[in-house]
This record gives sequence, C-alpha cells and structure tokens, in this order.
Amino acid sequence: MAATLPIIDLQELQESSSSSSGKLREACEHWGCFRLINHGVPVSLMSEMKKVVGELFDLPISVKRRNVDVLSGSGYIALSSMNPLYEAFGLYDIGSTAAVHEFCDQLGASPHHRETILKYAEATHGVAMKVAARMAESLGVLASDGAGLFEDWACQFRINKYHFQPETVGSAGVQIHTDSGFLTVLQEDETVGGLEVMDPSDSGYIPVDPVSGTFLMNLGDLATVWSNGKLRNVKHRVECKEAAVRISIATFMLGPPRYTVVEPPPAFVDGRRPRLYRPISYEEFRVMRQITDKQAGEALELLQGPAQPLSTKFDVNSLPADVLAQIQDID
Ligand code: OGA
Ligand code: NI
Repeated sequence: MAATLPIIDLQELQESSSSSSGKLREACEHWGCFRLINHGVPVSLMSEMKKVVGELFDLPISVKRRNVDVLSGSGYIALSSMNPLYEAFGLYDIGSTAAVHEFCDQLGASPHHRETILKYAEATHGVAMKVAARMAESLGVLASDGAGLFEDWACQFRINKYHFQPETVGSAGVQIHTDSGFLTVLQEDETVGGLEVMDPSDSGYIPVDPVSGTFLMNLGDLATVWSNGKLRNVKHRVECKEAAVRISIATFMLGPPRYTVVEPPPAFVDGRRPRLYRPISYEEFRVMRQITDKQAGEALELLQGPAQPLSTKFDVNSLPADVLAQIQDID
C-alpha cells in the first residue's frame, strides 16, 4: 500500500507544540510535502476563488492574453500544440496589492471577482508566511529571526486549468518537475485528482487524493538551497486520470525579491557540512532552469562546485533574442 502524506495542523503549530514542530521538520526533510489542515482560510473563500478563476478562463482569448509576464513565464499560458491540455494564468507578486489590482484590471474583473482574488491572495500569502516561519523554527532558526526572515519574499499565483480529454487519459498533464521556489501552497481541484508526488522510500509516485478545504504544501528547489540541502524539493507531476476539467490554484512563495541572493542561515553551515550551493537570486535561478530545461531539481547541480563570485544581478533582457523567445512560455 502506498505511504500516506504527513498531515500538519497549522493551528497546533501556531500554539507552539513541540511535537507538531518535529512533525513539520520530518515532513519537510523526508517528504518535501505535506497536507495542511486548520490553516484558517475559510472553505467558502477557497470555493469562491475556484469559481471566480473558472470564470476568468471563460474570457475571450484576446482578454486572457492581457495577463502578461512580469518574470519570464509568469503570465498567461495559452493552450498550444506543445501543451494541448494545459492553460494557466499567473500573477506576480501577490504580496503587492497594486499587482493584484493590475491583474484584475488586465482581465476586466468584476468588483466581486476583484474582491475574491484580493482576499484569497492575502489569505494564501499569510499561510505561506506562517508555514515558512514555523519551518525555519523547526530547523532551529530561532523564532525571533524566523518571524522576520521571509517577510518581503515574493509570491506568485499560477492558476492552472487542465483540459483533460477521453483520449488523454493515462498521459501526463504536467511532466515530472520540482517547483523552482521555496514553498508552494496548492489548492487542488477538489474532485478531479491526478497529482502525484515522489515516494521518499522508493522513488515511485504516490497519487495524492484531493481533500477539500485543505492545502497541499510542496517545498521547491530554493528551499534546498536555503537549507543547505536539508529540505527536500519534492518531485511531482500531474497525470490525466479522467476526461474532465481540472482547476488548481498554486501560491508559490518564490524567494527574496529584487535579485537578492539566497544563502543558508549560519546554523546550516559548519565544518562538517560545508556550503553546498553558491548563493543565487531567485530570478537568476528561474532563468537558469528555463534556459537549461532542468525542471526536476537538476538545476541545483549547476550551483555546486567551486565558489564563484557573488552574482547580485542578472538582467534577463541581456539574453539573446532567440533565447528570450524560447523561455517566454515555459514555467
Ligand atoms: C505546479 C503544480 C499541481 C497541480 O503548478 O507547479 O505542480 O495540481 N501543480 O496542478
Ligand atoms: Ni509543481
């Protein structure tokens, strides 16, 4: 029988129970993912958001295309011959009310849509921040530091719509990948499953059955960099299991903004455990993953080896036009 995902209760964690903190640490180190319950986001808001984004996908294609990139690949992704099942909206950075309003303006959102998106962005942003702070604390990065560690970190929405067809049952909706950022708060489709995560014990894939009203939390590549290899960037994929529309809403806590480099806190580096990865900003890492097409954690290998000069700024626009064009539509 397949192993079952760890379940973490956010309310219990907030009450500083040491057993729940240990459970969180174990989940992050061993699994790289867990199910989050008692997170404080009303189920009614989660279902309203799902309804609202479903309506946004019904807009004319010319309107949907107004959701343009801020970071490469952060905006609307249309159905294409490469990706005939997959369509997505994106919003960077949900921590900025102005950016959320701009997203709504681009799509001509109604006042109700706007209010729902604003509320949901604030709520899932809060969940990401709280869980990240508790995670740091569970690893011995003190609460007084932990509380302020991630405050200004950038967060992106990716709202996914999978157009599963009878003839695509059994094929991949999204290939095996790791998330590039630090921590993901995923609202799965509550009825149509398909998400699978890598089993920590045998490298097979475990189907994750959706549980309405909860979030699936994933750690990404940047969590592995930040923790000097302690935290697991879980590989996962989405399989088409039935001919149905599947909508999921991911809030990615990416990393520090504005090309600030990510480095492990001193507690994670010592003589016995030297620094594994060179410091890098999230923006530079994202482009590196896209250009090299190393989407399943292999891009971390590019950060290993002899220390290189600190890279503090990476200008995407300095890339040759053909490389830029190549990375426009890839996550
Ligand atoms: C993603 C992802 C899973 C899903 O957007 O990175 O893994 O269930 N999504 O849609
Ligand atoms: Ni993912």
